[in-house]
Order: sequence, then C-alpha cells, then structure tokens
Amino acid sequence: MPISIKSEREISLMRESCRLLAILHEELAQLIRPGINTAEIDEYGEKRIREMGGVPSFLHYQGYPASICISVNEEIVHGIPKRNKRLAEGDVVSLDAGILKNGFHSDAARTYIVGEGTEEARTLLSTAEECFWQGVSFAKAGHYLHEISAAIGDLAESRGFGVIHELCGHGVGRDLHEDPAIPNYRQTTKGIRLRPGMTLAIEPMICAGRRQVQRLSDGWTFVTADRSPAAHYENTVLITEGEPEILTLRSAGK
Ligand code: MF3
Ligand code: CO
Repeated sequence: MPISIKSEREISLMRESCRLLAILHEELAQLIRPGINTAEIDEYGEKRIREMGGVPSFLHYQGYPASICISVNEEIVHGIPKRNKRLAEGDVVSLDAGILKNGFHSDAARTYIVGEGTEEARTLLSTAEECFWQGVSFAKAGHYLHEISAAIGDLAESRGFGVIHELCGHGVGRDLHEDPAIPNYRQTTKGIRLRPGMTLAIEPMICAGRRQVQRLSDGWTFVTADRSPAAHYENTVLITEGEPEILTLRSAGK
C-alpha cells in the first residue's frame, strides 16, 4: 500500500486519538505494583478506552484476545494478559496499547520496573527510551527512513544490548499497521524519504542478552531465546517540516 499522507483534518483526529492514549498510559502506570495480575491491567485499560469513546485497537486484531499487550521480563511484545500472572518486585513489564477513535488508531508502549529492579534493568529501560529519541531526531521531512533505523540500532548495540530484528515500527492511521515498516537496526538501503503528514509508530525493542527470539505456543508472545529481559518504548510520531510531533506524549501539540 502507498504510504498515507494525512490531511490537516486527519492530523487533528490522530492528535485526539493519541492524546487519549497518552492519558491512558499515565493511568496504567499507576497500576504497576507487586501482586496485581495482568488481566486486571487489561480490564482497566479496556474500560477506560471505552469510556473515552474509543475502541481498543488490539482487541481481536488478527485474533489477539486482549486490549493491552502485557509482556513481562523475557517477553518482548504481544504478551497476553492473564489472571494467574501476577507482577512481582523486580519484574520488567511492558504495556503496549492502541486506541481507535473517530476512525484513527494511536499506538504507544511503555516499559516499567516493579519496584526498584536491578541496575541492568534500569539501564535497559532508559536505553530503549534513548533509542526512541535518537531515532526521532531523524524523523523529519527530507530525512530518510533508515536513518531512524540506524540511529536506534547503533545506540542499542553500543550499549551491548540486543536489538530485535523480527519486529518493526510502522505507519499508523486509518489502519493500525500501515506502510512503511520501520526496522530497528541498520539497513543496506536509505529507505523512503520522509514527508510532512506521515504518522509513524517508532518502537525500539531491545534485550539485555542476545537478540534471537522465539514465539510461545500461544501463537502471540515473543520471548528472547536466551530468556534475557526485554524493553519496548513506542510513540506515534507526526512528521512535519520541522521538529516531529510526538503525538502520544502529554506535551504533544504545544
Ligand atoms: N503495538 C503493537 C504492534 O505494533 C500492536 C500489537 S498488535 C496485537 O505490533 F495484535 F498484538 F494486538
Ligand atoms: Co506498534
């Protein structure tokens, strides 16, 4: 499919969907504590999305059974919330959510530590976030897509972390996953030229050990093959002539 360029009207609808998702993530962060089970987090998320007048983007997407992807420790992405899965002190937990509102999807992920965690876990989380910002520094009209990919991958590798190759960022809008795919590691081509009005979900996924992945028999959950902990940080970003707008952060649109 061609890459969609959003009109001003479509951009305002994207802003609204993303604004709600930023609020949702702030609320979900408050739930992270030892003893809560991941199904409770999912139920709260679904309820709040519907109260906001939205529909959970992920629920029933290609058969995915929940509204919030909750991935703990060696789980990288697409973990399925479960009543018998309780968070414990030191767990590394990523929450990935999307909202469909007025015909437009938003997509964002955050990773948290339950309690203080290890020094390695804290560095893993902060690096995932820094990778996002390094990538976003190239998310401007006139730059090329793979400058984003290279910036993300190079930073993670320079810290000795694994970068997941099997999963990518993507365009987002009327569809949850639109073109282009956005790899998180250096490519051999430049990729497409970025243009104002593109809305991209930029989402570094990194791990403390080797980058190889496995998919669990539930058909969804990606885990690190060496069972090292993983972190995921994602925002929906609008390409403009100047600085990119990070639509799923509360400060967006200022
Ligand atoms: N943010 C996730 C992604 O871009 C969306 C999860 S898709 C689902 O891949 F099917 F797991 F819901
Ligand atoms: Co995404």
